[in-house]
Amino acid sequence: MKKYILSIGLVFASIFHFSAEEGMLIPSLIAAFESDMKAKGMKLSAKDIYDVNNSSLKDAIMHFGGGCTAELVSSKGLLLTNHHCGYSQIQSHSSLEKDYLKNGFWAKNLSEELPNPGLSASRMVRIDDVTAAMLFGVNSNDNAAVRTEQMQKNMQKLIQDAIQGTHYEAEIKPFNYGNDFYIIVKEVFKDIRLVGTPPNSIGKFGGDTDNWVWPRHTGDFSVFRIYSGTDNKPAPFSTSNIPYVPLHFLPISFKDRKVGDFTMVYGFPGETEQHVSSGYLKFIVEMERPARIKMREKSLGVMDAAMRSSDAVRIKYSAKQASIANAYKKWIGQVDGLKSLDGVSIKISREKEYTNMAATRVDWENKYGKVISDLNTLVEKESQWEFEYSMAIEYLYVGPEFYKLTRGIEDLTTNYLKYKEKGELTTQIDKLIKAADGFFKNYDAQVDQKIFDLLTEEYIIQKNTEKFKSTLSNLKGLSEEIFEKSIFTNKDRYIAFLNKFKEKNEKAVKSCFKDPAFKLYTIFNKDFRENVLPKYQAFDDKMTVLLKNYVAGKYEMFPNDKHWADANSTLRITYGKLEGSAPTDGMMYTEHTTLDGLIVKYNTGNPDFDLLPKMLEMHKNKDYGDYAQNGELWVCFTGSNHTTGGNSGSPVIDANGNLMGLNFDRTWESTMSDFMFDPNRCRNVVVDIRYVLWVMDKYSGAKHLVDEMVLMRE
Ligand code: ARG
Ligand code: GLU
Repeated sequence: MKKYILSIGLVFASIFHFSAEEGMLIPSLIAAFESDMKAKGMKLSAKDIYDVNNSSLKDAIMHFGGGCTAELVSSKGLLLTNHHCGYSQIQSHSSLEKDYLKNGFWAKNLSEELPNPGLSASRMVRIDDVTAAMLFGVNSNDNAAVRTEQMQKNMQKLIQDAIQGTHYEAEIKPFNYGNDFYIIVKEVFKDIRLVGTPPNSIGKFGGDTDNWVWPRHTGDFSVFRIYSGTDNKPAPFSTSNIPYVPLHFLPISFKDRKVGDFTMVYGFPGETEQHVSSGYLKFIVEMERPARIKMREKSLGVMDAAMRSSDAVRIKYSAKQASIANAYKKWIGQVDGLKSLDGVSIKISREKEYTNMAATRVDWENKYGKVISDLNTLVEKESQWEFEYSMAIEYLYVGPEFYKLTRGIEDLTTNYLKYKEKGELTTQIDKLIKAADGFFKNYDAQVDQKIFDLLTEEYIIQKNTEKFKSTLSNLKGLSEEIFEKSIFTNKDRYIAFLNKFKEKNEKAVKSCFKDPAFKLYTIFNKDFRENVLPKYQAFDDKMTVLLKNYVAGKYEMFPNDKHWADANSTLRITYGKLEGSAPTDGMMYTEHTTLDGLIVKYNTGNPDFDLLPKMLEMHKNKDYGDYAQNGELWVCFTGSNHTTGGNSGSPVIDANGNLMGLNFDRTWESTMSDFMFDPNRCRNVVVDIRYVLWVMDKYSGAKHLVDEMVLMRE
């Protein structure tokens, strides 16, 4: 806490590096920023935003499914998030007969809302600094193992104490590479039902063409509802559950907007890496990202073509394709941005400043004088292992899909004696049989074979090794064998194998070892587990130790800078204003887009901009109701809020605590903000809540949902 108080008064005086908009702030420390936020127009107090004893904005913000953010907007547990955050749920309820991707879906009443096994939404109960308690009894003279053991003990005790006698869950997370620790106590709801979604032609309008790009016209929202037991506490799915009554829900900001309006984003940013060294940034920009981009370019080429030529394949691959394409395109933007800003040179000059500052005092020189050169030397010597690690992830985890099945069977063949002893073998196999349904529902062997052919070749090129030469001397033959004979590329063969396993385990294990897909997996996986992974982990551990020290030095030697801990999937606040940007020389982005602009994008021959006839009709009639501003229906707007992946679905909140829209993206030029934030160009992209409500009410005939909400016209 102290360091935030120390630094806050001087935020404006800070002469370099940081604008007021940079940073993802910890909600329990937000009081330190209250006056700055008020100066920017906010009318709320810090306690309105975060309070443990009374309800506050925090209680309306949910961690959705672990990777996105969602917000409560009614007293009956109505929950908004992005369309792309609910995408796998929407897809899982879709079929050729009920094509919710194409046509949308709206439950007419509670009984039509669709359950989603495995989906959760979590409310943060409190977030507290427990650094001192975590370090209790930890002696800096002890070796790392002893220290870790003591910290583990402290952690268990703290968690136990925090949740005792409650239905809460808790975890402790390191911040600033372990300079600080926070405990996060949460209430996890498990019965989350799908209430409605617009069609892809609204929720995913612009598709991959417009993804990460401004100007944008995507209605990226979907609607869920949290159900609880009759005691209003989390409960597993049950037909007797009732809509959850939240401690707080967000009223809707239903009034005109203008440039300069205060905006605050409250959500769960996943990961930023602001502190990496110049050498590491160079490695990312010049080596790691380009190789990953190349791998994905190949698999996406196959998927895109197959999805265009068949509706069945389109439905099967839509969610998988979207997730691969998303990071792929972001990385291209990151590399572009970091190059055009010359991020590496900026890092180098900051590093000089740091080392020069350390040289001004003996104790600083001892602690921090060498850390920069240590960081960059480490990258030079060992970053190769991170490269190999990334390539293995791209190949074995993002590439050919059948590797997912081989992983499951690897576990079965290795541990079957243990499972047998415990009498668990049949249950284990039944689990795999059940999972196979989900896997093959979305699997097309022809698509997978093409991906296999291209990526296997590329993987070997990237690894730049002779090691697998004999194995792969006849890649074409191997590929044919795998896709004609292997148990992993055909559902019938796979299920027959699992059934055989139940009766004749030894025999099944033997036949598995002869399977061509399993054999290949074993060779690559062995190399990954035994050769790559340990070296990558060692590299990463050394890096963490150095970065911990480097960051401690930043706090100590530059107390007047605005410091913030990198995103780590915990609840954060970032604030700025509604504004456009001038991303490159000679170019201006205005701050909002409209339905007129959406219609202009239609009919250019690109299927990403397809619309259903209804939209054209609605636009012609200009039936905007109360949802327009000066006759224009705003679709999206941009803000100067520092966001990242995980902030999807986050509420963008106005000066009074009302919901202006849902965050869902950043502009192309901003994607580099995960490494380096540039206040001139970094903007988050938001779908205006008035458009969301118009789509519900006017376009979809789901006015009953709008009626559940509270619209604030002031
Ligand atoms: N870029 C946004 C995010 O990172 C939206 C992704 C979904 N849209 C898409 N066309 N793939 O999540
Ligand atoms: N679409 C991203 C998400 O899923 C948010 C965009 C970003 O990375 O800023 O979280």
